[in-house]
Amino acid sequence: MTYKLLNMDNMKFNRDSKTVDIIFADYIYENLDFNWVDHYYDMLKDGGIFIAMTDFHSQHRFRVYMEDEINGATFLNHLVWKNEWGRSPSNKFHQCYDDILIYCKGSNYKFYPDRIQVPKATTGSKRLNPSGRITKKATAWIDDICLTTVAKERISNPETGKLVEWQKPLKLMDRILLPYTDEGDLIVDPFVGSGTTISWGLKNNRNVIGIEYDKIKYKIAKRRIDSIAKETPDTGRNK
Ligand SMILES: C[S@@+](CC[C@H](N)C(=O)[O-])C[C@H]1O[C@@H](n2cnc3c(N)ncnc32)[C@H](O)[C@@H]1O
Repeated sequence: MTYKLLNMDNMKFNRDSKTVDIIFADYIYENLDFNWVDHYYDMLKDGGIFIAMTDFHSQHRFRVYMEDEINGATFLNHLVWKNEWGRSPSNKFHQCYDDILIYCKGSNYKFYPDRIQVPKATTGSKRLNPSGRITKKATAWIDDICLTTVAKERISNPETGKLVEWQKPLKLMDRILLPYTDEGDLIVDPFVGSGTTISWGLKNNRNVIGIEYDKIKYKIAKRRIDSIAKETPDTGRNK
């Protein structure tokens, strides 16, 4: 498997049209400039999947942008990931969830539901669970995955000792990337942050290109990825 971690503005990264299987974009949710969407959507193969992680700041605008500006994108799902982050405001409800919007380029795509099975709550009851199955396909409401401040996989900045903000859990990546990818597929992440997507790709035999413009984040991601790559000897850094 190969990976590439690039320290540059994502609008400077170019690739031929229709050469990428998945775009995974965990962007800065407050930023309403969506020019990067056109740029990256063009790289997707027909049948490729475009995943945007966002929240209440911009999910509504993102959906309108996809509908109005992006030709041929089919809306597939709006997942809600309940997290435990942020401070609860004293005068409002705490919006402690992210929105994950999933589109397909065209309409013919692959999806493997057997890879996102979760335990069935009614397993023990013959009346409530007549099929006798012990698992069911995960739903669009994700409340069984979280990344606490003390989780083993949390990355900190070695210089400040502080936890890196915005890091997403690898289990969440399992949930959203496994059903749409095969081994050897190419994922491009234009907002790679602490390198979660590349780390996931290394562990799951997917090729990944990740782009990060912040020097500090880039260094943190590189450190994280280098240490995982050492444990996966058939991995090559793609020059
Ligand atoms: C929400 S974070 C991504 C977090 C990542 N999923 C993780 O698990 O660590 C978004 C990242 O995109 C980077 N970013 C924002 N605008 C960018 C741009 N134009 N080009 C490249 N990186 C950018 C930010 O520096 C930030 O690290």
